[in-house]
Amino acid sequence: MRYTLMHRDLEVLDLEIDTQTFAITRVYELFAPAHIPIGVTLDVNGRPQRGLLNKWWLGRSIPASRSGLREALERLNVSSTGVLLLKCLGLSLSDQYWVRSCNKPLKWADINFFDNEFSSDVGNALFGRKSQSPQIDLVSPDNTSDGWLQKKWAILDGQRVLIKGGSAPYYQEPLNEILATQLMGRLGIAHAVYSLGFEGDKPVSVCADFIDNTTELISAWHVYSTQKKSNNDSAYTHYLKCAEALGIPGVSEQLNRMLAVDFILANEDRHFNNFGVVRNAITLEWLGPAPVFDSGTSMYYDKLPCDINAQRVVAAKPFASTHEKQIKLAGSLQWLDWQSLDGLAEEWEPALAQSRYIEDDRRAALLAALDNRITLLQRIQGEA
Ligand SMILES: Nc1ncnc2c1ncn2[C@@H]1O[C@H](COP(=O)(O)OP(=O)(O)O)[C@@H](O)[C@H]1O
Ligand SMILES: [Mg+2]
Repeated sequence: MRYTLMHRDLEVLDLEIDTQTFAITRVYELFAPAHIPIGVTLDVNGRPQRGLLNKWWLGRSIPASRSGLREALERLNVSSTGVLLLKCLGLSLSDQYWVRSCNKPLKWADINFFDNEFSSDVGNALFGRKSQSPQIDLVSPDNTSDGWLQKKWAILDGQRVLIKGGSAPYYQEPLNEILATQLMGRLGIAHAVYSLGFEGDKPVSVCADFIDNTTELISAWHVYSTQKKSNNDSAYTHYLKCAEALGIPGVSEQLNRMLAVDFILANEDRHFNNFGVVRNAITLEWLGPAPVFDSGTSMYYDKLPCDINAQRVVAAKPFASTHEKQIKLAGSLQWLDWQSLDGLAEEWEPALAQSRYIEDDRRAALLAALDNRITLLQRIQGEA
């Protein structure tokens, strides 16, 4: 079926989407080359590369790795995440792209999720709950949410918020988001602000959408894909070169701060889709790095209490295999006010104490490890 890829109300290009596989099978006319999704490059004939466009488009659907996905699809009575992707026209709460069927003259103002309400049926199904209403409404920004943890968008007091769960057996990720919020608040690093909530007895993190109806998040991966990497460049250098070539301000400062935060938190999952940049979707002006988000997969979230120890080497991403190596890329930590971190563990403790999945021995081990990670980073800085 023929669709137009839209950027708000701007027509970007016409394409054919197979309604069985949901893949883009043909790319027709290109109207607005400047608005093609970042990372989708043009071929020698000036046409968007269909393979890259498909990767971008299908990458908008809920990943197959999402916790509880199969059960949610069964509950919603849909056969695949592609069905959901097309149901919501590819709309999300993180950017301004969508697809418009050629025989339906829809307007951005009437359909975008920033200004229009949406159903909670898909979100509830993803959290293992049944819909209250007899008729399931599948139009939701949850259909385009990324990541493997259970999550759903909701409207709380008029604000779009992302509610995110944790993983068994400790359900610690939401509590780590609280710690990351406290840590970056103290260090003055731009960050998404998470607060603690509960779904039943399980902790969840609640975070306001940091994108609005004129801005959009572009993942570091898409920035990284704008140029071919030279063998002489490290991944770190390549990313900064891509950001510089695009003219995005402030990227290296924020990146280096994020690496220090990830060191302290022993973050194991800072892959290229867990950070990014923000631009204005109308003017295409680069606004700068996105606030740091998704720091949940850290603080030994899946380790037994006896294995929680600041010296334990955990895998780092995305630039080096360990935090000890990765932090060297971040250069001087002169900006880091060590005193501002005094009492951080005490500030985190009440959040940990609220979860029945964090027992006393685990809580004590986490708080000691946090203090020791800070000391370890301070020592490394002293040696540099
Ligand atoms: N506060 C937010 N505002 C806008 N987009 C967000 C926000 N938080 C997350 N996202 C988007 O949702 C995706 C999934 O969220 P994330 O926190 O990374 O979940 P997970 O822990 O499952 O990876 C992110 O990669 C990002 O694109
Ligand atoms: Mg993520």
